[in-house]
Amino acid sequence: MKPSIECENVTFGYRPDETILQNVSFQILKNDFCGIIGPNGGGKSTLLKLLLGIYTPLSGSIRILERPANEYPAEIGYVPQHLNFDRKFPITALEVVLQGRLKFHTLFSIPSALDIEAALEALTQVGMVEFKEVPFGTLSGGQIQRILIARALASKPKILLLDEPTASVDIDAEAAILKLLGKLSKEMTILMVTHNLRAIIDHVDKLLCVQGKCTLMQPKEVCEHFALGLYHYPLIETADQHLLQLPRTKQ
Ligand SMILES: Nc1ncnc2c1ncn2[C@@H]1O[C@H](COP(=O)(O)OP(=O)(O)OP(=O)(O)O)[C@@H](O)[C@H]1O
Ligand SMILES: [Mg+2]
Repeated sequence: MKPSIECENVTFGYRPDETILQNVSFQILKNDFCGIIGPNGGGKSTLLKLLLGIYTPLSGSIRILERPANEYPAEIGYVPQHLNFDRKFPITALEVVLQGRLKFHTLFSIPSALDIEAALEALTQVGMVEFKEVPFGTLSGGQIQRILIARALASKPKILLLDEPTASVDIDAEAAILKLLGKLSKEMTILMVTHNLRAIIDHVDKLLCVQGKCTLMQPKEVCEHFALGLYHYPLIETADQHLLQLPRTKQ
């Protein structure tokens, strides 16, 4: 199967004297559902921004759908980790989701019937269609998160990148979002950053551990220490040797 995402020897730093990601190489196949885990500051959000073409690697290459990363932004839906917005700004949930269609238009063009249909479909997918006329700023954290996922889905992406989309949702909403993503991964490639390894381990095909370097693993290879946020270096460096020796509660 052809890879959706290919990183080859990617090195990146925000400053010349600092390396955030070093010699990162991995491939994500079409319709893979891949969880991204790793410690705070490990480079997870940075990696997503590199895949989006927001930043360019200092060395190495990134190919998205067999093209250089910055050539295909329209194929990627993105749910950012942080959203700064004015809660008093008068915009409905539907209007936020319609922003996901902007890449097909100029900034001030009126949404077409097709845009509205795609936005309503995305709202339905995340279970929020009844909130379509509700002011965005009055929604709860979890509801906002679902709307942002709908905004990413509204563009009908081939690749969906989500940066901690379940960080502020309750257990039921998290389970519903993971179920939705599992279903969506039959038709798109999904990369999702999370600190909740336990919640995702039964849903994902692969796990990418990002800690300056990136190690791609099968969910069954991941030790219980990771679920507790203990990303100890030897495990990352020599995953195959160490994983077998460490206790796991999940089989
Ligand atoms: N725009 C920026 N300019 C300079 N340094 C940055 C910038 N964004 C992130 N960094 C630094 O890059 C490193 C990796 O940050 P990143 O946000 O990718 O980590 P992360 O794995 O997503 O962490 P978290 O789990 O806390 O979200 C950190 O040391 C951070 O301070
Ligand atoms: Mg982050």
